[in-house]
Amino acid sequence: MKKLIAGNWKLNGSLAANEALLTELAQGLQASPAACDVVVCTPAPYLAQVHALKSAQSALAVLEVGGQDVSTQASGAYTGEISAAMLKELGCRYVIVGHSERRQYHGETDALVADKAKAALAAGITPIVCVGETLAEREAGRTEEVVKRQLAAVIHANGHCISEIVVAYEPVWAIGTGKTASPEEAQAVHAVLRAQLKAATDQSARIKLLYGGSMNAANAASLLAQSDIDGGLIGGAALKAADFLKIIAAASV
Ligand code: PGA
Repeated sequence: MKKLIAGNWKLNGSLAANEALLTELAQGLQASPAACDVVVCTPAPYLAQVHALKSAQSALAVLEVGGQDVSTQASGAYTGEISAAMLKELGCRYVIVGHSERRQYHGETDALVADKAKAALAAGITPIVCVGETLAEREAGRTEEVVKRQLAAVIHANGHCISEIVVAYEPVWAIGTGKTASPEEAQAVHAVLRAQLKAATDQSARIKLLYGGSMNAANAASLLAQSDIDGGLIGGAALKAADFLKIIAAASV
């Protein structure tokens, strides 16, 4: 299966910075085309800009655009929310749901994340469902229990549609800290998630399992070499074209 490299820009960017980043990415991809799937999940106000820049440059044909969050609601009195249909209209193929920063700072529960995945799927957008344990949970030996509980909620709410999702395992202690899970640590959790998906659907082989948490140009190849790691969800390194291109190259072998 083709690997998937997803950039998560988080709360970063500007019209000028986005254009500079995409221009550099286009140059790099022109010189060395990607043999993996690539998506950048941008702040919502920049989706149209990034989609337009992508459409204008043939070297960026491989690039898909994604959102970072989606409402469970289709429309109505929900100030500040963005619906899956709106994301779709702006050219999104993917949307991140349940990122640990949203679980932590916005109180998103497993059930809410599962409903967000459902809203994305209903609009034909692939949800990138994030799961991951905190440092305290890992130290208490609860990693498996936590990620399985988080994924179970999504499986429960989405039934057979689960084969259309992407799952990102992001240990919270590895996000933005420079502390990456070792390839073996990541693989061990990915194997657990793979088994859980296999038990849920006979289509589990199509579900991509990404690793995220301080993935960078130096460690991407060894993480991506693991049998159950099908790609990466990349924060900081996705904002530097040279680094993001190196990760894309590591996923293209
Ligand atoms: P990081 O972020 O690569 O900066 O650790 C990953 C993420 O939060 O998706």
